Amino acid sequence: VTAHTEFDTRALRDALGRWATGVTIVTAPDGDGFVGMTVNSFTSVSLDPPLVLWCIGLDAWSLDAFTEAEHFAVNVLAADQIELSNRFARRGEDKFADLDVEIGLGGTALLPGCVARLQCRNVDRHDAGDHAIVIGEVVAIEHADRQPLLFHAGRYGRFLPADR
Ligand SMILES: Cc1cc2nc3c(=O)[nH]c(=O)nc-3n(C[C@H](O)[C@H](O)[C@H](O)COP(=O)(O)O)c2cc1C
Repeated sequence: VTAHTEFDTRALRDALGRWATGVTIVTAPDGDGFVGMTVNSFTSVSLDPPLVLWCIGLDAWSLDAFTEAEHFAVNVLAADQIELSNRFARRGEDKFADLDVEIGLGGTALLPGCVARLQCRNVDRHDAGDHAIVIGEVVAIEHADRQPLLFHAGRYGRFLPADR
């Protein structure tokens, strides 16, 4: 491993991408419909009170809807939901066409087939560089025994449990 003290955005992304994550789709209400985007910056913050965060690019098409919404939902994707992840990583409207969603608290979209779903009250936003940190208070939870979808170094993968 060579340490670089001068780096461009590409190198920074490559290094940060070595941090393995799950993949979520975060949704919020938007008029008669929803907004939603693929997000892997999601993390837990506090157990009591129950708080989570995720980061949204300030250039995201759905930034205003996520800022104005009183609730958002975090849909944690399963290993067989790569197509859904790609669909919600595209910019713009109409990501929900032909999707059979349930309506969550405050009008969020809850997607079928997920590993977990967290419904959150939108409590805070802190701008930081070219992203904003969105903080939510978790108000409803559910989870299922499914394989999670993982993301590492720009590729999707599956969880392989260690022998011990
Ligand atoms: C695996 C993965 C994780 C992503 N994580 C984030 C994230 O945490 N925050 C973010 O702003 N964009 C993230 N993106 C990019 C957004 O999904 C993408 O910019 C999307 O088009 C934004 O939607 P919008 O512009 O319609 O609002 C991620 C994309 C992928 C494929």
